[in-house]
Amino acid sequence: MKDPIRVAVTGGAGQIAYSLLFRIGNGEVFGPEQPVILQILEIPQAMDALKGVVMELQDSAQPLVHDIIATDDANVAFKDANWAILVGGKPRGPGMVRADLIAANGPIFLDQGKAINDNAADDIRVVVVANPCNSNCLVAASNAPDVPKDRWFAMTRLDENRARAQVADKAGVLSTEVTNVGIWGNHSASQFPNFEEIKVGGKPATEVIDDRGWFEGDFLTTVQDRGKAIIDARGKSSAASAANAALDTIRSLITPTAEGDWFSAAVYSDGNPYGIADGIFYSFPLRSTGNGDWEIVEGLELSDYAKEKAAATQDELLKEREAITDLL
Ligand code: NAD
Ligand code: LMR
Repeated sequence: MKDPIRVAVTGGAGQIAYSLLFRIGNGEVFGPEQPVILQILEIPQAMDALKGVVMELQDSAQPLVHDIIATDDANVAFKDANWAILVGGKPRGPGMVRADLIAANGPIFLDQGKAINDNAADDIRVVVVANPCNSNCLVAASNAPDVPKDRWFAMTRLDENRARAQVADKAGVLSTEVTNVGIWGNHSASQFPNFEEIKVGGKPATEVIDDRGWFEGDFLTTVQDRGKAIIDARGKSSAASAANAALDTIRSLITPTAEGDWFSAAVYSDGNPYGIADGIFYSFPLRSTGNGDWEIVEGLELSDYAKEKAAATQDELLKEREAITDLL
């Protein structure tokens, strides 16, 4: 058995954490030989609810969970953490767009960025889930000057999974047949799931599904607006699928990416090959060598249509950044 790694999860009494924590504990992300210490952060008002979650974690007696630390002190939660999954924050309700959350959630990431900077392990990697996740990630990373920028990720994997599922359904294949799904830009309605690169059974999706109108229309809007559709249907934002996507993100970062394929996460844009502005967290197709390191997939030929979509979502991120300059 290996030494335990420390995994910090914020928003531990919330909906997403209720799926996430138990799945981290069962070894499906870090592997059956990798024990974990769960370090769970909540706000003081939610500590009673978190106590209940901790009791359930204890009652699951998961062999890989070597300790559970529940706290309302960010310095304790991030102490020596190897991974941090930042879920804590308000979700949007009906009638809101994700960017409406920046005023409520942005300041949380300023404090947590500092706490990560001061306490986390040298190999810390951070996945930001709470919305608006790209800009929250920028706030946190900007306030953690000692943590290299390539250790920070904002989650667009849920969008990738949604796009994969839509294409699989339309093509009548299993989702495993759908590869090369890249989400470009913001985790918002401006995102661009680049269908021009998606493959189905190794062939271009646009050949297998010979209906460009569907890709530019229903496909795009279904993926872009899926979060809202779930809120409208459930009365609450997506939770189990969001937790699933957070775990997929980590798994993709710690597993070598299959030859020719890629996965999506928003990373700090700093001299990327596609001319996207520097200094924002922008989702690109990525490849990983399997040790948490990654690179942006190079050499994709973007059509004028794709370039326009990629630029529009960049512009939205630049606007979000303007609104949070005081937090950076
Ligand atoms: P929730 O309201 O059920 O839970 C959030 C929890 O965070 C609450 O228990 C709250 O007390 C806690 N919290 C608030 N401030 C905190 C702080 N400073 N430190 C620690 N904990 C804090 O919400 P949820 O459904 O679990 O969603 C959490 C976030 O994830 C929301 O912002 C939501 O919009 C976002 N989200 C993102 C994606 C994505 O794809 N990126 C998908 C789904 C949800
Ligand atoms: C989602 O995509 O389901 C989440 O980001 C929640 C939301 O507000 O849409």
